[in-house]
Amino acid sequence: MKNGDNYCRVCNAELKLAVPFGKMPIANGYLTKDDFDKEYFFELQLGFCPNCYMVQLMTQPDREKMFHENYAFFSSTSARMAAHFKEFADLVIKGYLQSANSFVVEIGSNDGIMLQHFANSGIRHLGIEPSANVAQVAIDKGIRTITRFFDEQLAGEIVEEYGQANAFLGANVMCHIPYLHSVVAGVNILLKPEGVLIFEDPYLGDILEKTSYDQIYDEHAFYFSVTSTSYLFEQHGLEVVDVQPQNVHGGSMRYVIAHQGARPVSIAVVAQRAKEDALGLRNAETFEGLRKNIEHSRDALLNLLRNLKQNGKRVVGYAATSKSTTVTNYCGITSDLVEFISDTTPIKQGKYSPGAHIPIRPYAEFQARYPDYALLFGWNHAEEIIAKEQQFKAAGGKWIVYVPKVQVVG
Ligand code: SAH
Ligand code: TMP
Ligand code: ZN
Repeated sequence: MKNGDNYCRVCNAELKLAVPFGKMPIANGYLTKDDFDKEYFFELQLGFCPNCYMVQLMTQPDREKMFHENYAFFSSTSARMAAHFKEFADLVIKGYLQSANSFVVEIGSNDGIMLQHFANSGIRHLGIEPSANVAQVAIDKGIRTITRFFDEQLAGEIVEEYGQANAFLGANVMCHIPYLHSVVAGVNILLKPEGVLIFEDPYLGDILEKTSYDQIYDEHAFYFSVTSTSYLFEQHGLEVVDVQPQNVHGGSMRYVIAHQGARPVSIAVVAQRAKEDALGLRNAETFEGLRKNIEHSRDALLNLLRNLKQNGKRVVGYAATSKSTTVTNYCGITSDLVEFISDTTPIKQGKYSPGAHIPIRPYAEFQARYPDYALLFGWNHAEEIIAKEQQFKAAGGKWIVYVPKVQVVG
């Protein structure tokens, strides 16, 4: 197996550089002024594999730089996501956990946003969450959680202690793990013969269709499609048996995986692969198109922000999302264009945004003195946010969004 940044982490073929973003910091690496001169940067490059079609980052920072005891992302900050994960848990309980003594494992279980529903229903469960601070929140809620990175070795240990699982779940975590083969080998060991892996991640088709390039950052090592995902699992005697598009995180795909031949393959899998062919997910030129669309989006956003500044308007960022790190650094947006970013997460407040060093301020400061424009970095939560900010709108405030295109709304 060849190693290094230029080879596909799934099939080892040589990657093609699709989109170069330049130097980037850790997307969730909020920092204090004292840490500015020690800040870590890496080259963010989107690569396309012409053999298995997996789209992936070329250079990847070490995992310990991203997931640790000061991890800044707490899943339960979004009410919309809390509702989404309740539905996800209900579907798993009804569809796959009806036998006595069922066992469910979730990786990337974070603060227990999904696993709490299994715990509350008295179902045997186990969360695997390496970021100690978020894991502790789950443990305090009575959710059994171990603070480790999931891989093949850990899968073996879990089977020894608990037996195999009926369902193995992951939301917004599979795409975070560069050593995917070890994870999939672990899934193979952990799943009962009739067991299922159900996971969801931001979907490559949506990124292409919406130019949502801000999904591309350090933690997202892979940008899955049904085509590339099928290839990966087939290498391990597993197969994709169902796929269901999800209207969260700007467009995600849920994949249901089973041991080969164990379950019928849904027509949805075949249909989605045909859609992917039509979208050009197997053509390198498609990604040249993406690169051009990203450059246009950047130019339009910068023009808008510079015009607003010239006209003396105040612009504040709304929600210090991981995604905003790519936008601010790629576009070169600093505090001269965006005064501060308002965010509800206490550990981000008082710090500065990664790379661009825009101050992060508590939400109360947004409310205390509404800006003329709010740049909606949390566009994937747009419905929830715009609905609750009626007063901002009533005060004449307007929203700037940049996905699927740069525009002012409200
Ligand atoms: N499932 C939650 C959290 C997603 S964030 C949600 O959708 O909201 C991704 C989480 O995966 C982080 O909490 C991170 O600490 C965790 N993670 C990263 N690498 C992991 C690995 N190898 N095994 C298990 N969890 C991992
Ligand atoms: P994410 O898009 O990476 O999931 O990050 C969500 C961030 O947005 C998190 O820091 C909390 C913040 N946020 C707000 O500040 N206000 C809101 O209304 C919502 C929904 C999120
Ligand atoms: Zn490949």
